Amino acid sequence: MSRLLTFLCMSLLMLGPYPRMSASLAARLQINTMPSPLEFLQNSEQETCVSPVDIKKLVAVAWFAFDPGSAHSDIIFSNDNLTVTCNSYDDRVVLGKTGFSKGVHYWELTIDRYDNHPDPAFGVARVEVMKDVMLGKDDKAWAMYVDNNRSWFMHNNSHTNRTEGGITKGATVGVLLDFTRRTLTFSINEEQQGPVAFEGMEGLLFPAVSLNRNVQVTLHTGLPIPGFYSSRASIAS
Ligand SMILES: *[C@@H]1O[C@H](CO)[C@@H](O)[C@H](O)[C@H]1NC(C)=O
Ligand SMILES: *[C@@H]1O[C@H](CO)[C@@H](O)[C@H](O)[C@H]1NC(C)=O
Ligand SMILES: *[C@@H]1O[C@H](CO)[C@@H](O)[C@H](O)[C@H]1NC(C)=O
Ligand SMILES: *[C@@H]1O[C@H](CO)[C@@H](O)[C@H](O)[C@H]1NC(C)=O
Repeated sequence: MSRLLTFLCMSLLMLGPYPRMSASLAARLQINTMPSPLEFLQNSEQETCVSPVDIKKLVAVAWFAFDPGSAHSDIIFSNDNLTVTCNSYDDRVVLGKTGFSKGVHYWELTIDRYDNHPDPAFGVARVEVMKDVMLGKDDKAWAMYVDNNRSWFMHNNSHTNRTEGGITKGATVGVLLDFTRRTLTFSINEEQQGPVAFEGMEGLLFPAVSLNRNVQVTLHTGLPIPGFYSSRASIAS
């Protein structure tokens, strides 16, 4: 019940009123300096739906967009830097604006456009990852790449765990980065895709995507930990 309440409140707070938040709060959310609960309440128009118990959970969820500053110059941004496509037939990398080094984080990417069976890649990367190759080609990224039939995990150009099931236009790819277990896990359309993809995750990692001109994706953040993960793992909440 409180999970549901948190989700409803977050939906309102993160999606609805974001453009109406004060400039200073918006700026602090962007750089991942979370506001104090008091500040959050003062800035929130939906304060009445936030019970004190839920505030900690609420501010632990990060909102972030893609980062034009560090992206390959072929990446094209729209929708307040939440939607990306690419000018090139080659794979180009774009990172999220916010890096993580502790906690449990989940975000999704919806496939807005999918032409000619490309294989975009989703995952996490160090800030110095190569930007002109598919994510996972170097040792600075941990990724799942996927076409319309299958997916593979890739790190340092090593391809593992081929899994049946691909993406189409409208599909949702989920990325779950858990520093308490030090794991990276993927989902497609809210079902886990393959085994746990990577273990031993540590240090500062940024959400990352690689794509070419045949794909467009939109980032969704500020989401609760999904059922496919929390129902089988004992996540401390
Ligand atoms: C998108 O990124 C550009 C370049 O970093 C920045 O100037 C702009 O404010 C961003 N837009 C939003 C809505 O965050
Ligand atoms: C891939 O999936 C498509 C439908 O999405 C199917 O028509 C095709 O036969 C599949 N190809 C392979 C190699 O499995
Ligand atoms: C990455 O792969 C290269 C070439 O196979 C290998 O020499 C190197 O040790 C690997 N690095 C890591 C961090 O696994
Ligand atoms: C996934 O790939 C790794 C590395 O090749 C392998 O050790 C592991 O057994 C695979 N997991 C499954 C469930 O196939």
